[in-house]
Amino acid sequence: MKTMIVITLAALGATSAAAQQASSSPPPGRLLASNCFQCHGTDGRGDGTFDRLAGKSASDIYGDLREMKAENKRGEIMTIHALGYTDAQLRAIAEYFSKQPR
Ligand code: HEC
Repeated sequence: MKTMIVITLAALGATSAAAQQASSSPPPGRLLASNCFQCHGTDGRGDGTFDRLAGKSASDIYGDLREMKAENKRGEIMTIHALGYTDAQLRAIAEYFSKQPR
């Protein structure tokens, strides 16, 4: 009987460890924004070639992305990206980059 209790407690411990892991997931928007890191640098810090996004205002970034989406210029790299996300996702991405240090 005592063994049963120990096993049950151990299982409970494992469950709460899993719950803790879930709560340490990346900050909102980061997973979506990570698609942009290859060109705009990790966390949007720029790589010397493409525009730096870190620390720009969320409304500027969102505005640019909305414009690219609306203009829908075929063949332009950013059009393809902008079209791939819902407006809510674009907002979350813009919000994430705006919170990164300049
Ligand atoms: C394959 C490379 C590449 C990827 C990936 C990429 N971009 Fe870009 N981005 C560019 C290039 C090149 C430009 C500049 C040319 C242009 O405006 O079309 C640009 C321009 C921008 C601009 C305008 C910046 C300014 O100051 O005018 C924003 C905002 C932007 N990208 C956001 C994003 C976001 C958000 C993502 C991810 C969803 C992303 N980009 C992914 C290549 C990329």
